[in-house]
Amino acid sequence: MMSDFRPHTPDAAGDLTTPRGLYFALLQPDPSPEARSAGQAYLARQLEATASLPCELPEQPEALMTWMDQQAAQVGDAYQAYLEERKAGAPRRYFQTKSHALYFLKSVAPTKAVDGAWLYGLLQRWNDARFYPLIRIYLEELGDGDPEKNHVLLYKKLLATHGCEGWEQLDDSFFVQGALQLALGYGADQYLPEVIGFNLGYEMLPLHLLITAYELNELGIDPYYFTLHITVDNPSTGHARKAVQGVMEALPLLGDSDSFWQRLCNGYRLNSLGAGTCSVIEHFNLDQEVVAMLAAKSEAGRYVHSDYCRIGGHTVNEWLATPDRISEFLAALEAHGWIRRNQPPENSRFWRLIEGERAEMFGVFTAYEQQLLHDWIAGESALHAEARPNGERSGLRKRQPTFRAKQRMLERLAGQPNRSAHRSPGLAEALSSANPEGMPGSDFDSEEAALASQLKAQPDREAVMNTLVAQLAPALHATPAGLKATQLFARLLG
Ligand SMILES: [Fe+2]
Ligand SMILES: [Fe+2]
Repeated sequence: MMSDFRPHTPDAAGDLTTPRGLYFALLQPDPSPEARSAGQAYLARQLEATASLPCELPEQPEALMTWMDQQAAQVGDAYQAYLEERKAGAPRRYFQTKSHALYFLKSVAPTKAVDGAWLYGLLQRWNDARFYPLIRIYLEELGDGDPEKNHVLLYKKLLATHGCEGWEQLDDSFFVQGALQLALGYGADQYLPEVIGFNLGYEMLPLHLLITAYELNELGIDPYYFTLHITVDNPSTGHARKAVQGVMEALPLLGDSDSFWQRLCNGYRLNSLGAGTCSVIEHFNLDQEVVAMLAAKSEAGRYVHSDYCRIGGHTVNEWLATPDRISEFLAALEAHGWIRRNQPPENSRFWRLIEGERAEMFGVFTAYEQQLLHDWIAGESALHAEARPNGERSGLRKRQPTFRAKQRMLERLAGQPNRSAHRSPGLAEALSSANPEGMPGSDFDSEEAALASQLKAQPDREAVMNTLVAQLAPALHATPAGLKATQLFARLLG
């Protein structure tokens, strides 16, 4: 089955000169040689661009563990200070409104949709114990094949819950990190120290992750994806520590370890490129987002309204036929009493057309788009409304999905019922668990069946592992066959 995980490839995918085009060209099951070499060239350019930036890593790798512990302590202190500030009545530091937070979730989607991808190229070294900690990080990013723990699937679920899909059309700057991560994932042979250095930077627990999780929760947005990263990336036993172990084990005992360390620092610096958490949050402009959203909607909307209602001398279809006049249209709606800004949105006739199952425009706007309109209309009144941890203030009352509902959504995204991994490392047994014989045959199982017969045809463990590696590619691991392959790979590796 083609699950709905795979991002549809926009037209720009053919253009390997843009971060967005490169991103989608590398986010293919088996990227073309042209895409792979464009990825290498992109990496080379970005490494050159960051070479002169300061690097916060210690000068010697031996100091790395102490350095990591100091970083973690600083982040902990800063977070405690943030909590004190909030307790004393300070407003949220990141998200003024719920739509601001949803904008953030959508804007970082290109990066989150390839979570872990930079480590993909290390999987083929599964037989080399030095890379075990880093391969374990990759498998944990994939939830060891459990759809409820696969980070990419979890993020897709979060986006779907809040109507934040459509990120494929974002501007190039939002694809810089994702393109870099994919290029590293397909460039490990040439850029091994850089991959390890990038991983080190990515897996450190940042302050913004803690604050984001706190404020999302406050706005009624399930912070699980972010809290999961706080726990799995923890510096005591989690990815941050494994990342340091990965560095120490990969450092060459013979040869030029200085230049290895230098290149590792260069890879570390790549984390600062492109749109990051803080810049995305600062970039948000509610007026602009509302206008851009309505302009995009106007394409379809300009043909479907009846002409009986005129606003400011024009029919709705006429207004929508000229997307660059959306601001004027909004001003006309306000001037003619359809919108009452800085009041609860329920006071606006326009809002009442949108919200509620009997509303005339029910279903026209996604949850995110409704939230944008809600917060734009509410204006000051939304900013001053009191925040409550369960998010009741945020306007759109939506029941939080139950645990079972969340599970069903994950299953739908992954295209299969959740079957958790079993323990047993034997090759024969592992392969028999990949065989869907006995399951009612249907089109939904075809990819899993194809994987099972592919695995059966392999002569030995090495060939089986290599077949599985192909299925763990960034574009495939969150599909039903990819999840199954991840479970098998983890068991056979373990
Ligand atoms: Fe992750
Ligand atoms: Fe991680």
